[in-house]
Amino acid sequence: MRVVVTGGAGFIGSNITDALLDAGHDVCVIDNLDPRGGGRPDHVSTSARFEQVDIRDRHRVEEITRSFQPEVVCHQAAQTSVVRSVRDPAYDADVNVVGMLSVLNAAVASAARRVVFASSAATYGTVERLPIDEATPQRPISPYGMTKLIGERYLQFFAREHGLEFTILRYGNVYGPRQNPDGEGGVVAIFVSRFLRKDGVTINGDGEQTRDFIYVGDVARANLLALDAGCNTAFVVGTGVQTSVTGIYAALADITGCEPRVTHAPRRSSDALRSYFDPVKASTGLGWRAEVPLADGLRRTVSYYAEALGRR
Ligand SMILES: NC(=O)c1ccc[n+]([C@@H]2O[C@H](COP(=O)([O-])OP(=O)(O)OC[C@H]3O[C@@H](n4cnc5c(N)ncnc54)[C@H](O)[C@@H]3O)[C@@H](O)[C@H]2O)c1
Repeated sequence: MRVVVTGGAGFIGSNITDALLDAGHDVCVIDNLDPRGGGRPDHVSTSARFEQVDIRDRHRVEEITRSFQPEVVCHQAAQTSVVRSVRDPAYDADVNVVGMLSVLNAAVASAARRVVFASSAATYGTVERLPIDEATPQRPISPYGMTKLIGERYLQFFAREHGLEFTILRYGNVYGPRQNPDGEGGVVAIFVSRFLRKDGVTINGDGEQTRDFIYVGDVARANLLALDAGCNTAFVVGTGVQTSVTGIYAALADITGCEPRVTHAPRRSSDALRSYFDPVKASTGLGWRAEVPLADGLRRTVSYYAEALGRR
């Protein structure tokens, strides 16, 4: 199958690209290597076509997509920082709404069959009942959560208006090799790189806030299954287990044998307190379930960063 992966130079997009290539698909990556994101040219396999283009450049995106003729567009490119979305909601909307519309228009213009969309637990905000499933009301509290939810609504509109199929994957807290440790999002990547350098770590609030930490290989596999299964519906993509930030610290201390100094900072008001998913719909609708337990995923992540640090 021919697949366009937007954001394919980033953490999740490049892992999806590798999984697609391994499964024998042809891939075209569209990514602008945004210096504030996790995109790196060396993340992109030389077996994929790579176009360094901003998704907001609608003419170039349409031109590339028309020439590649994908059956599926896997839309991962985004402004991914909750903090930045709070500071600059207009930029967040520009990339996550206007940019996404340019990708959807290109999908229609090139007669693609389906768009698979990277949505987020952030679309739920603070919920009344846990675990979160697909029927939980979506009440985002950050601009990032709002624009991801608007993206979902546009997919429904494009399906009605143009017959473009969609599959929405609402990821939990994704971690694993290639996550940007310099950003604000990935607590695992930040912690692992600081544990390995024996630097202190900062925990926002008391560290008891929980997330559903999901290994990137499991997320890539969900995207592959969504090429065909799960038409015009949404799935939460998580393990069904909640882990606190303190729990991540303890697991990494166990794996690395280090216990770096902890500094506490104020909790961010745009972050939900507790969050984890009930992924049962993904098992029936996509034939997917998380396969990598947290301890294994963390071990693989530590090995990846240890090797990367050794190369420097
Ligand atoms: N990491 C997580 O835990 C998580 C959780 C939920 C949802 N998501 C979503 O998954 C997707 C991938 O996130 P990630 O963690 O791999 O982040 P990432 O920053 O590593 O990847 C995003 C990619 O998008 C590219 N990009 C950004 N703006 C662009 C633009 N205007 N034009 C073209 N490319 C652009 C970046 O260069 C980068 O390569 C995003 O849509 C994100 O919102 C991530």
